[in-house]
Amino acid sequence: MKRTIKDVKSFKGKRVLLRCDLNVPLDNWGDILNDNRIEQSLPTIAELVKKNARVIVCSHLGRPKGYDKYLSLFPVAVYLMKSFPNRVKFCSKVVGPEVQDAVSKMKDGEILVLENLRFNKGEEENSPAFVKELASLADFYVDDAFGVAHRKHASNYGVALKLPNAIGLLVEKELSVFEKAFKKPAHPFVAIFGGAKVDDKLNLINNVMDIADTIIIGGGMAYTFLQAKGKNIGKSLVSLDMVDDAQAIIAKAKEKGINLLLPIDHVVLAGEKQKVVITEYLDNDMVGLDIGPKTIKLFSKAIKEAKQIIWNGPVGRYEDVRFKTGTEKLAKAVAKSNAYSIVGGGDSVTAVEEAGVAYKIDHLSTGGGASLKLMEGKPLPAIEVIDTI
Ligand code: 3PG
Repeated sequence: MKRTIKDVKSFKGKRVLLRCDLNVPLDNWGDILNDNRIEQSLPTIAELVKKNARVIVCSHLGRPKGYDKYLSLFPVAVYLMKSFPNRVKFCSKVVGPEVQDAVSKMKDGEILVLENLRFNKGEEENSPAFVKELASLADFYVDDAFGVAHRKHASNYGVALKLPNAIGLLVEKELSVFEKAFKKPAHPFVAIFGGAKVDDKLNLINNVMDIADTIIIGGGMAYTFLQAKGKNIGKSLVSLDMVDDAQAIIAKAKEKGINLLLPIDHVVLAGEKQKVVITEYLDNDMVGLDIGPKTIKLFSKAIKEAKQIIWNGPVGRYEDVRFKTGTEKLAKAVAKSNAYSIVGGGDSVTAVEEAGVAYKIDHLSTGGGASLKLMEGKPLPAIEVIDTI
């Protein structure tokens, strides 16, 4: 079992480097467009503050190549200043003398937020020099950055090898939710997968086939499956090199008695014209971009009967308002069901939030890529390096 912060006897006076995933969307004014990841990071920060640690919070934000004023962590620090009045300071550097100085002035129960880790190229390279500098700031390391746990970066991998360490409350929660869902699933277990490319989800679908009762496939990737079934998919998205894999999945589902559901009707564009057609009427000039009403009904029925649901990926081109209805309706169906529901991956999380039903989902994961890896049954490198007890 991984050591958690609850297993650590005393944090009093300890300098704790706390790696969070505070990678939140910002607009050009620095306004935070979705604070879910910050909110979910607060319990661990609060717990460390309560235990009188000196909490050095670090995170990445976006994918900057060097310094980028639009990707500063300052707006996040301001958010934390409101959550923890009179306790939070911000340092506009990641490592170096200014940070050392700020850390040396910290008192017990105070919080120092460092600038975006990725402004330093040593972060993604996991460079030994950067690891050394980060590790020198603290006596203890806490990993609460689930969203980035599939990466091997300096702040979540290299540093963990240098300092005594533990996982935070968010990582603990994420790991236990996925472990329970996969090791002791409630049945009927319905897994819903969407998104553009089947390549990204192949391992995941294969892993889920051992435990799911129903697998629902929507989004761009559904067309590779329809092609594998010999349907005409017109100009819809297809991964030609994955058609054989899709065929193998269809065969395996049949053999195992898994209910594999694919779209039966579609919202398509034929030239500039938008219409709804059933699969059999998909024509050479059509591009399928969302599931149609019959499919929504079919998928919703399976969702209603579920006792456990895992959903990753939109079932249409969600970013285009003309093709988001299917995903929105599905979000509402998942929220309405009595099943234990887990939603992961950026667009599906956004969909349940925009549909105003996020509060009805049992677990909204803070990890896209990280939750995918977990569901594939693969280890997360940043968690692997945390001490066990
Ligand atoms: C995410 O948004 O999925 C995480 O914060 C990881 O970000 P990354 O894909 O840029 O490493």
